[in-house]
Amino acid sequence: MPRSTVAHIDLDALRFNYRLAREKAGIARTMAVIKADGYGHGITAVASALANDAEKYAVACIEEAFAIRNSGLTQPVVLLQGVHARGDLADCQAQGFEPVLHSTQQLQWLAAGGPTPTFWLKVNTGMNRLGFRPDELPALMNTLDAGGQRAQLLGFVTHFACADDLESPMTDEQTRCFDAATAAWPDLMRSVGNSAAHFRAGQCLYDWSRPGIMLYGASPMIGATGAELGLRAVMTLQAPLISTRMVRAGESVGYGASWVAETDTRMGMVAIGYGDGYPRHAGTGTPAAIGGQRVRLLGRVSMDMLAVDLTKAPEAREGDAVELWGPTVGVDEVAACAGTIGYELLTGVTARVPRICL
Ligand SMILES: Cc1ncc(COP(=O)(O)O)c(C=O)c1O
Repeated sequence: MPRSTVAHIDLDALRFNYRLAREKAGIARTMAVIKADGYGHGITAVASALANDAEKYAVACIEEAFAIRNSGLTQPVVLLQGVHARGDLADCQAQGFEPVLHSTQQLQWLAAGGPTPTFWLKVNTGMNRLGFRPDELPALMNTLDAGGQRAQLLGFVTHFACADDLESPMTDEQTRCFDAATAAWPDLMRSVGNSAAHFRAGQCLYDWSRPGIMLYGASPMIGATGAELGLRAVMTLQAPLISTRMVRAGESVGYGASWVAETDTRMGMVAIGYGDGYPRHAGTGTPAAIGGQRVRLLGRVSMDMLAVDLTKAPEAREGDAVELWGPTVGVDEVAACAGTIGYELLTGVTARVPRICL
């Protein structure tokens, strides 16, 4: 019998969240961002579940795009980092992958001849990770015209740095910058809009939005949980209680003896730890749930185990399932307790944990 530490993947919730993104995108179309193994949920399962809804997928690299193609899906796949080698352009052309080209090197590969895929250009409006500056675009477009690659250009992509923060002026500044940078080519498409941008009233998402984290039910916004934003948790990470005991007042639990019982406390050991991707920095007080009842972690997380306080779940018995995150305990709450974000927790669940699609 395998241990029952599993990540249940609720594909109905995924479809629900995708449709919410599409609704919020208004007249923009919505590509589903499923990089990093579908944010840890399993890229082929996620892609297949969205196959009747999503018109395009977006991933980071060509290996992820091939994973989608190899599962029999035919939608275009946007490669958000472009290509990493010249030879990849031929694969893009043959497979219907749309690289977002962001560097002079990538444009040189394109100009060098060979099969030319349809492609996007990345515009750097302030994130300063990738892309061409607005003032570089006119010359660049002339070069594409002269080289005959202009016909394959689908449009422009930019990415927001602070859309999760409603107080920040930066998203408006980036939007104005993108608008001005691309106004000379109204025949081309434009794509902005990570998940957070879908929750900004009045935000223009142009032709294609690119939601990622919201599809999985986690929050893209500072100060709001996924549930508060109307999203449904897709992953329920759960593990069994494998031992219960009374710890007497004055006794400690686990490595470093960091938590010491103030009163006699019934506690349980749960078969999950940082070797499964549960964050080691989640300390005493981090929420979990048993049968819908919230309980708290005690002491340090070990590689394969962690301890919970069963005071509020007196009926809990060995074998019971403990929810580490899911519909009762949002992944964002756990992330906050561990000093990180839901993205990192979802993508960090290790291969030891089977993903079981519901
Ligand atoms: C270029 C680009 N677009 C869209 C996304 C999706 O962002 P989110 O998961 O915040 O919705 C990402 C994610 O990192 C990205 O890098």
